[in-house]
Amino acid sequence: MIRSFELERDRGVSRFGDAATLEELEDAQVATMGRKAQLSTLQKALGSLSPEDRKRVGRVANDVRATLQAALADRREQLERQAEDALLEEDRLDLSLPGRAPRVGAFHPLSIIEREAVEVFTSLGFRVVEGPEVEDDWHNFQALNIPPDHPARTMKDSLYVDVPGHPELLLRTETSAVQVRTMLAQSPPVFVVAPGRVYRRETSDPTHLPVFHQIEGLAVDEGITFADLKGTLEAFVKAMFGERRRIRLGPAFFPFVEPGCEVGVSCFRCDGAGCRVCGTGWIELLGAGMVHPSVLENCGYDAERLTGFAFGLGIERVAMLRYEIPDMRMLVDGDVRLVQQFRGVA
Ligand code: PHE
Repeated sequence: MIRSFELERDRGVSRFGDAATLEELEDAQVATMGRKAQLSTLQKALGSLSPEDRKRVGRVANDVRATLQAALADRREQLERQAEDALLEEDRLDLSLPGRAPRVGAFHPLSIIEREAVEVFTSLGFRVVEGPEVEDDWHNFQALNIPPDHPARTMKDSLYVDVPGHPELLLRTETSAVQVRTMLAQSPPVFVVAPGRVYRRETSDPTHLPVFHQIEGLAVDEGITFADLKGTLEAFVKAMFGERRRIRLGPAFFPFVEPGCEVGVSCFRCDGAGCRVCGTGWIELLGAGMVHPSVLENCGYDAERLTGFAFGLGIERVAMLRYEIPDMRMLVDGDVRLVQQFRGVA
């Protein structure tokens, strides 16, 4: 009987040693020490021995159990450590490998300027509106005080769109048409900016594109004066180009404003001394003026009671000046190396 116990002990120990996983070890434990195991049968048989034999064999039985318990615990610890090592190996992080840099996109410089300018104007209380890029003759010209035979049309006559049943559709030549659409859609007071794409029949060269971008501004209320226009533009220019900038206004003609002006800003590079960017110290930035009474009336506004100012800013021009881009065509030729330089800007 003692030998039987020792035999079960040796079998158990070797079963535990053979178990390759924790699951297999569990099976080996059941097979060796479970209720149906040979060891249990032997244990029960102890009862039929004489008290003296029972004492002797019982001691062996206890030793065998203790040995098996210890062997089981050892093997379990071993297997647990192995499992953990395997997991660590699997998850191994090789810190000596070169990193994989994520591809970071960038805003196009035109988007950067547009967003920045729009933010300045919204902070001044202007609301953002948009208009269609395909316009009709009335919104693009007639309502803006440019009748069919007006000489201003010769420079602007633009890209007409042939749509059967829609005479005189064209790609808008300036965002000023949005002035008209805004006033027709709402009652005063009006404080809006309208960013967008405009089209002109023009051959592209370093300073011209047939498709470019503007931001139109319009303010209409009782008592709006030229001083409000000046103050607004000055605030814009300082926010956009720096606190030290000054603006200068010169007379200019646009049929939809009276008086009309051209607005220059002191060069942000040379501060007005004259340099390679500006030439004269001043950079012409935009057209502006007091909304012509006829335009107010064309939109159903009372020109006796209301006054307003409007301005139109070229986004390409601002981007070229700000970033010293020598040729406007670089902004649209699709070379990602241009845009990549603006990673992290805006
Ligand atoms: N629409 C004019 C242009 O494209 C700019 C402008 C807008 C001038 C508003 C006066 C008032 O040249």
